[in-house]
Amino acid sequence: MKPLKIGLAGLGTVGVGVIRLLRENADAITARAGRPIEVVAITARDRNRDRGVDLSAMRWHDNAVSVANDPDIDIAVELIGGSEGSARDMVEAALSRGTPVVTANKALVAIHGNALNSIAIENNTVLMFEAAVAGGVPAIKLVREGLAADHLQSVGGILNGTCNYILTEMRATGRDFSDVLSEAQQKGYAEAEPSTDVDGWDTAHKLAILAGLAFSPLSFDTMPVHGIRDVTAIDLKFADELRYRIKLLGLARRGKNGEVEAWVRPCMVPASAPIAVVNGVFNAVTTQGDFSGPMTISGRGAGEGPTASAVVADLIDLARGASLPLWGTDTSPAPKSCVSLDTIE
Ligand code: NDP
Ligand code: HSE
Repeated sequence: MKPLKIGLAGLGTVGVGVIRLLRENADAITARAGRPIEVVAITARDRNRDRGVDLSAMRWHDNAVSVANDPDIDIAVELIGGSEGSARDMVEAALSRGTPVVTANKALVAIHGNALNSIAIENNTVLMFEAAVAGGVPAIKLVREGLAADHLQSVGGILNGTCNYILTEMRATGRDFSDVLSEAQQKGYAEAEPSTDVDGWDTAHKLAILAGLAFSPLSFDTMPVHGIRDVTAIDLKFADELRYRIKLLGLARRGKNGEVEAWVRPCMVPASAPIAVVNGVFNAVTTQGDFSGPMTISGRGAGEGPTASAVVADLIDLARGASLPLWGTDTSPAPKSCVSLDTIE
């Protein structure tokens, strides 16, 4: 069987996870994809760093665009991160050549998703990004495929594992925010620049993607975004006494006039709500549909294994011939304003 050949840029937490998963689960992946999936070309910043995996059979490229332009690859996988620079250049180069792209890069998809999708369509190819929202939780598949027939009223949830981990640990141990943040960084959950996580921007990126699928393209530039820096262990204790939990939520929902409202902020959640028991690095994606009703799915939202699992699921979809549009086709007014909510049911 002819293998599906992958060009991979980024050999950090997720990139190495993808190489390990493709090796350790090769037989099952080959059976599900219909052919073997092999990483044949790679790049990262430091060629000499020991990644803990054998890379000797792969072609090294000096930069990510060169991987995208490698004539021997079938799919380009971008696992560098950041909405500009090498990540964006690589994705644009691959799509422009008609090469499908898989990325875990939520910043890139949230900011440039529409433009990248246009390049993909012009070149008869596709951009896949399951890992960009909620790590190992199939959030994109849920909204785009599972709920394809429904008219959604809301979508969102706990979309940042680092923040949920920090809030969970602060509540459990009474420790300070900064102390717990360094632990999340050591575990590989946090972004290289932690303010992206703790100030709510990572949640905003993911919410923009989900809302783009559920409703219509949403610019998070105008979204009110508030992170968790101000939440103290005392706040968490008082919330407990009132039988609430404090969670960083991102939510997009239809208002009374049909416009979609979107925001990111720490919220008081009743202890009995499904998302109240979603702890640690777990994420939860919640939807409310006219036909499907309320739904919550949860799982590991960050880390090597869960994120690699979502990236490889996209590769398997592509091997099977997936070709899906990026954004939703909702005709209601574009999302814009803010809604003020103190509690979420
Ligand atoms: P890391 O910081 O662990 O890895 C980034 C990799 O990119 C490194 O190998 C780095 O090289 C390489 N790199 C950086 N700059 C360049 C460049 N200019 N050209 C080529 N390679 C470059 O990041 P993660 O693996 O954690 O994240 C990767 C992507 O996945 C990001 O978009 C992130 O948001 C997303 N993601 C991450 C999750 C997680 O849990 N970590 C979960 C979901 C999504 P070197 O190693 O040599 O420095
Ligand atoms: N830093 C992100 C998080 C990684 O903590 O959720 C997963 O997108």
